[in-house]
Amino acid sequence: MRTNTLKVVTHMLAAVLLASSALPAMAAEKADVIHWWTSGGEAAAVKVFADAFNAAGGEWIDDAIAGGGGNNARSAGINRIIGGDPPAAMQFNYGKQLDEIIANGYVRDISELAAAGNWKKVIPALIWDSISRDGKVYGVPVDIHGQTWSWWSIPALEKAGTEVPKSWDDFFPTLDKLKAADIIPVAVSRDAWTIDSMWRFLVASKGGSDLFRKVYMDHDVDAVNSPAFRDVVETFFKLRNYSDPGAPARNWNDSTALVINNAAGVQFMGDWAKGEFTNAGKKAMVDYACTPTIGPNQGYVYGGDLFIMSATKDPEMLKAQDLLVNTMMDPKVQVAFNLVKGGIPVRSDVDTSKVDPCGQIGLKLMANPDNQLGDQPFYNSNDAIGAIRDLEATSWANPDTTVDEFVAKFANAISMQ
Ligand code: BGC
Repeated sequence: MRTNTLKVVTHMLAAVLLASSALPAMAAEKADVIHWWTSGGEAAAVKVFADAFNAAGGEWIDDAIAGGGGNNARSAGINRIIGGDPPAAMQFNYGKQLDEIIANGYVRDISELAAAGNWKKVIPALIWDSISRDGKVYGVPVDIHGQTWSWWSIPALEKAGTEVPKSWDDFFPTLDKLKAADIIPVAVSRDAWTIDSMWRFLVASKGGSDLFRKVYMDHDVDAVNSPAFRDVVETFFKLRNYSDPGAPARNWNDSTALVINNAAGVQFMGDWAKGEFTNAGKKAMVDYACTPTIGPNQGYVYGGDLFIMSATKDPEMLKAQDLLVNTMMDPKVQVAFNLVKGGIPVRSDVDTSKVDPCGQIGLKLMANPDNQLGDQPFYNSNDAIGAIRDLEATSWANPDTTVDEFVAKFANAISMQ
């Protein structure tokens, strides 16, 4: 009898233990994710990640912090990490933005997951280097964003009786025709980083790949003093005549909306702008045209986004992070995400047949290493980038700035690494 009771109790205990050990696996693995994807296209894209994570058994807690370019989101996330309340994951751009938080031990080492997924084999070397420090991996790369595209409204160009310029000789005449047709030629936006997108489009495409490399990768002051660089500055200043009084009140995506609605001719912006066109139901090369280059230079300025997993000892958070990392790196999820986001998948082993015509241009250019221009955050400190952006924004707003002044200040900023 006693043995029987013992048996029953043992069975009951085993059942309880089984049930309780099954519990954590059934409970959703919650991950609080900080990012700055709040425009229409961006929000649609982040939902792809959230849905995939939830379908895999996670619970995505969305921590979207508005502000294109991410300054607000990064400050908020870093404050939480330093304050001891880290999110499971947060967004950064590739490059030096990660230096400090990794050096301070705030980022989880995810080398094992990266090794298990063979990441090194399938992602571009520069991106691999930018997520690694001393042989360890700290970031999940999710996209390649072309940083310096131009987005043209085909109906606006047609109304003005013109087309996307094929050479730099055609460039200002095209803008003049748009102006004459009462269309805002260039949709400029408020924030300094958006002025910087337009500026780097000119450096890469008008100045050329060599100039871009010398300036941003080698910090070569002679290149900044060269005639080619001065020509870029003059072109940049001349573009002021093609903006409109509404620009200082606009976010980047408000400017994209002007092109979408055919009220503006062109916007110079990274290919996250394509996410806005897609979200508005517009078709590449039908409703809008895209080109990252004008004329013979084929340089493709690229960068993009990664997620860090906060360093933690909390076993629940660690499990949720594992699931999140594997979801974000899943080939199908990466393709689906980038189709909505506007970038191209960072993995080379995925099906890119559904990528739109603009993305195909990006894929083709990226396939040739001669065209690859790693963007400024790979090679420049946050301080140097901040100084350059301040200079561009203040010079843009002040037509009295001379080319000499701009060149001298730019040379200082690029030297301050
Ligand atoms: C990010 C993009 C984002 C854009 C505008 C960039 O820094 O790489 O993913 O769409 O900012 O918010």
